[in-house]
Amino acid sequence: MTRDPLLLAVDQGTSATKALLVDGAGRVVATASAPLDVAHPRPGWVEQSPEAIWASVVRAVGACLAGQDPARVAGVGLSSQRESCLLWERATGRPLGPMLGWQDRRTADARAELLAAGVGPEVRAATGLPLDPMFSALKAGWLLDHHDPERVRSRRGELCLGTVDSWLLWRLGGGAGHGAHLVEVGNASRTQLLNVHTREWDERLLDLFRVPRAVLPRVTASTGPFPPVRGLPPLLDGTPVAAVLGDSHAALLAHGVRAPGSVKVTYGTGSSVMGLIDAPAQAEGSPLCLTVAWDDGAPAYALEGNIRSSGATLRWLAGLFGTDEATLAARAAADSGGVHLVPAFGGLAAPWWDNDATGVVSGLTFATGLPELARAALESIAFQVEDLVAGFDTVGRRIDTLLADGGATSNGTLMRLQADTSGRTVRRPHAGNLSALGAAHLAGRALGLTTPERLAAARGPEDVYRPQCPEPERARRVAAWHDAVARARLRPE
Ligand code: G3P
Repeated sequence: MTRDPLLLAVDQGTSATKALLVDGAGRVVATASAPLDVAHPRPGWVEQSPEAIWASVVRAVGACLAGQDPARVAGVGLSSQRESCLLWERATGRPLGPMLGWQDRRTADARAELLAAGVGPEVRAATGLPLDPMFSALKAGWLLDHHDPERVRSRRGELCLGTVDSWLLWRLGGGAGHGAHLVEVGNASRTQLLNVHTREWDERLLDLFRVPRAVLPRVTASTGPFPPVRGLPPLLDGTPVAAVLGDSHAALLAHGVRAPGSVKVTYGTGSSVMGLIDAPAQAEGSPLCLTVAWDDGAPAYALEGNIRSSGATLRWLAGLFGTDEATLAARAAADSGGVHLVPAFGGLAAPWWDNDATGVVSGLTFATGLPELARAALESIAFQVEDLVAGFDTVGRRIDTLLADGGATSNGTLMRLQADTSGRTVRRPHAGNLSALGAAHLAGRALGLTTPERLAAARGPEDVYRPQCPEPERARRVAAWHDAVARARLRPE
C-alpha cells in the first residue's frame, strides 16, 4: 500500500450506479456513473434486472478507477437503494426473476388482506414501519409464491432472498461458491421482517409474510465484517469492503449528523426526511418510520418520512407541456395564484399513509397558466417536506435546521421556498453525492483513515437559506395546503 490511500464509494441507486474516489484529505478525485433501466411491465409494477445492476457497478467502478493505481484503494464503502427485493439461487448465483423495486405496488391486495386480518398495529410495533408494499416483506412473499410456492427450496437453503446491498455484497465477494449472504442492519430494518428493537429477524413476522428463515441473509453491522472484493477488476482481490449503508442513512451520516436536533432532506424522484432520535421509544405514536440508521459498534436509531413524488411531479408536469424539468422550474411564477397541486399519484405516504388518495390540482382560475402550475409543483415539494419535518418537532426538540441534498437542491428557488415554508434554516452543501460520501466516510472511519474534519472538507462550502416569511403568513399558507390535501383524500384510513 502506498502512503496516500484512497477510498472507493459505490452508490447504487434506482436510476444509476455512481462511484466516487476520495483521497486522504477528503477530496473527491474521481467520479463515474452508469445509468440503469427501470421496467414498468404493468401499472404499479416496478422491476429492475439484478444482472444489469451488477453490470452497472462493474462499469461505474471501472470508469472511476481508470488511470488510478488500484493498489491505492484502501477500502470500499457501499450505499444502496433500499427496500427493493430479489431472489437468487445459492449454488449458481442465478437470479430468479427480476428485482421488485421499492416503488412496486403489486402487493397492494396482499397488504389489504393483512390489514383486514388486523395485524397492522402488530407489524408496526415490531418493525417501526406501517404495513406497506414499499417495504420488502410483501415483495418477498410475492417472489417466493412465484418461484418457490411451497417454500421447499427456501427451507433447504437453496435460495437466497436479499435487498440490493445483499446482492452486491454477494457479488463483490465473488458470487456463487464464494459470496456471503448478508444484509446490513440499516437495510434490514427497511425489509419489515426485522424486529427493529432486537435487530434480528422476527419469527412472528416471518410467519405472517410466509418467508422461511433459511432464505434470509445474516444481519451484519454497518462496518461488517464483510468478505473482501473478489473478481471486480481493476480493484485488487482482497480489497476490504469496510462499510455498507442504506443510501438515505449514508446521506445523513455525510451531513455530519451524530445526534438529534437536525434532519436531512434528500430531494430526488421522491424525497426522504430523516433524523436521529435518542431511543426507539420516542417513535411511539409518530406517523414517521422508525429505522436503524446504522450500527458502527452501537446501533443508532432514526425516524424517516418518505414522499413518493417530488422531482417526479416536476417531470410529470414538464412532460405534459413538452418541456424539461429545469425549463419548467425556471418558468415558475413568483406566486401560484392560489393553485395547489397535491401529487398523490401513487397515494400519499407519510404522514398520511393513504393509498386511496388521488392527485388533485385545486384553485384553478382563467388566470392560471403554466407558470402558476410550475410554482404549485415546486411548492408541493416544500409543503410535503415540511409536513414530515413537523413530525420531528413532536418527538424531541424542535428542528431548526434542514440539511439538504439531492438533485433538486441546485434549484435555489426551491431552497428559498423550503426555508420560508418551514420557518427553518436550510443548509445546502456544495458536494454532489452525499450518499456516496457517507459510505466513503464510514469505510474510512472503519479503516482508521478518516476524521470528521475531512468529511466536512469533502462536503465543501454550503449555501444557507434563512426563513424570511412572517409566521402568520407561513401558517396560513400551510393551512391552505392542508385544505388541498384533504381534497385529495377520498376515504382517509
Ligand atoms: O427508499 C428508497 C431509496 O433508498 C431509493 O433511493 O436513490 O434509488 O432514489 P434512490
